[in-house]
Amino acid sequence: MTTSPRQFDAAALQAAAKRNLWLHFTRMSSYADSEVPVIVRGSGQYVFDARGRRYLDGLSGLFVSQIGHGRTEVAEAGARQGAELAYFPLWSYANPRAIELAQRLADLAPGDLNRVFFTTSGSEAVEAAWKLAKQYFKATGEHGRYKVLSRDIAYHGTSMGALAITSLPGIKAPFEPLPPGGVRVPNTNFYRAPGFVAHDLAAFGAWAADEIERAILREGPESVAAVFLEPVQNSGGCFPPPPGYFRRVREICDRHRVLLVSDEVICAFGRLGYYFGAERYAYQPDIITFAKGVTSGYAPMGGMLVSDRLMEPFADGSATFLHGVTFAGHPVSCAVALANLDVFEKEDLLGNVRAHEAGFRAALERLSDLPIVGDVRGDGYFYGIELVKDKATRQTFTGDESERLLRGFLSPALFDAGLICRADDRGDPVIQLSPPLTCTQEHFDEMEQILRSVLTQAWSRL
Ligand SMILES: Cc1ncc(COP(=O)(O)O)c(C=O)c1O
Repeated sequence: MTTSPRQFDAAALQAAAKRNLWLHFTRMSSYADSEVPVIVRGSGQYVFDARGRRYLDGLSGLFVSQIGHGRTEVAEAGARQGAELAYFPLWSYANPRAIELAQRLADLAPGDLNRVFFTTSGSEAVEAAWKLAKQYFKATGEHGRYKVLSRDIAYHGTSMGALAITSLPGIKAPFEPLPPGGVRVPNTNFYRAPGFVAHDLAAFGAWAADEIERAILREGPESVAAVFLEPVQNSGGCFPPPPGYFRRVREICDRHRVLLVSDEVICAFGRLGYYFGAERYAYQPDIITFAKGVTSGYAPMGGMLVSDRLMEPFADGSATFLHGVTFAGHPVSCAVALANLDVFEKEDLLGNVRAHEAGFRAALERLSDLPIVGDVRGDGYFYGIELVKDKATRQTFTGDESERLLRGFLSPALFDAGLICRADDRGDPVIQLSPPLTCTQEHFDEMEQILRSVLTQAWSRL
């Protein structure tokens, strides 16, 4: 396979991008008078645009590129598989790579999670998990259980079912009415904790977990199917779980026979220094949903890992889980995922994250001397920096200020300065960072330096 850089006609790409391409979650009007960023190539922790400029990929694309860019061995594994068997469905048939990958994931997954149901994206994985929970309870005689609990501001995907679990009113409103059954509970944002638990992290965690139980009791346990939680909640800017939180949630779920779904679309595959986030925080989910890092983006894939117990009602007679998608377990994606996991092992990427995460945190925490930096939070290679107008009072920005600051200044300025990260105001304004797992101190220092310069400018413009 040749790897020589291709030549791009930047002007022609630009014109066609504006004419024919529809970007996701993007105000297309914002490119009326400016260029659409066109990324043409990646190498290691960096990507390059059509004009040849280099960017540190501080977000792994979109929480995806765990092993970094330009790994020919992973691309070649996909190409080899495509030549041998490009496609065959998982509907009634298996293929060797899907079998091997299912076995490998089952070996890596915590506890009794032993069965893999593949999808092609995170939203599909979440959708499949909710459908499995519903059909499982119908099959076991608990017909009334269909509701799902999820946390404030959490993002769990965009298809209609996943969107009903997502807790961001702004992106849901145009699509109402959504499937019924989504119930909200508090998240674990300790920086914005209610006053009565604001000074005690453990008490805050116990309160947040108990709110899940209160919601189950309020809704009626016989109507609740599952709780969807990320190990570290992304949306809102990285909320790690307080100590003891997941142990308590597990107890609550057991008490009310509600399934605990660990939505690890971002947190699995090394993001937190473990194959699965549930391992880091020592809890046992009933279902893990995954996507993104399973292939590091060299091909699309998602899926869910479930315990044999959930499979049981579907194991005999005519019973069937009535769900499927054409490209699930795609042989090319599975081959790529296996090659991706080989890189994890060969280069001990989990070890790299564990060895360097303190350095990452320290580099970001050094930014706390800036007046605009209110909070730095996260774990592993997954951090959010909350921006505030007043550090002492933790006052946040108004909608207008946030609009001017994040969209008007920070996003383009960080990009121009050579750092890809995400300025997000779906909750309070935050900058999100989630670099490739191959990063070391030099990359964290580069991030710190760019962030320091751009955040200092941002403050002077307020
Ligand atoms: C926790 C979580 N769940 C689900 C999704 C949806 O994944 P996808 O965009 O692959 O559909 C995402 C996407 O970022 C996510 O972060």
